Amino acid sequence: MQAQEFYRRLWENYVTIAPSAGKIHELVEARFGPIRNDHVAFRTFDISPISLADLEKPFLHWGYRRDQAYPFPDKHLHAYGYIPPNDDLPLVFLSELTTRELSARSRDWIERTVSGTRLEPDPVALLLGGRPWALPTWAEYQLLEAESAYAAWLSVWGFCANHFTIAVHALRDDPALSDVVGELRARGFVMNEVGGMIKGSPSQLLQQASTVAESRSVTFDAGPKELPSCYYEFAKRYTEPKGELYLGFVAASAKDIFESTTARSRTPTRNR
Ligand code: NI
Repeated sequence: MQAQEFYRRLWENYVTIAPSAGKIHELVEARFGPIRNDHVAFRTFDISPISLADLEKPFLHWGYRRDQAYPFPDKHLHAYGYIPPNDDLPLVFLSELTTRELSARSRDWIERTVSGTRLEPDPVALLLGGRPWALPTWAEYQLLEAESAYAAWLSVWGFCANHFTIAVHALRDDPALSDVVGELRARGFVMNEVGGMIKGSPSQLLQQASTVAESRSVTFDAGPKELPSCYYEFAKRYTEPKGELYLGFVAASAKDIFESTTARSRTPTRNR
């Protein structure tokens, strides 16, 4: 499969999970002109055949190069940024959960689930395939969630774009990130305010903001529960002193953006 086709299908899956992203896309396009996707992000467990080293293969095949490493030790995660061979393709942010750092009970669920599932050997099919394993029980979900919101999210949603990202620097007239965010808030979209509405600064060469993940009802053995699904991100990149657009990420900002899918960081509702 060609990379463009992969991203087209990935977007279709993404807006099926989080239809509000489609609405945001239309709204931003109507107000600021054509949209370029800055990056997509994926989550996984560090177990073969779904580890980061497995999932990066198609991107390397499409000409991407692995760039910087981003450690998130207190979230038991690490990640890499991948730079595409040309401007028509987005950057990629791949992260994986270090399962040996979790409790034996959580680790057991993950290891049992991965080894007990017939997994697509082709990483492209895997990344377009959604959740390949059976839904955890509500008790299992809660066990994972207490320890790692990332693990809980991955147990339910599996493989899909955790987020797409609007390249604000590539919009018509290069608006301020706060202008784009302000427009969305005025329409009632809720932003992730962990670490501030706008993360990063021009001196860090990257500013980011994101919506909180769209809440979706998932039916567990214990009945339907409202859970965070996918979110939309907004990135404004600045030019490095040598004149090239900065293509890295900022670990401190990414850490706060991970909270976009944390149910606990949101306003409690009657469902929780
Ligand atoms: Ni991102």
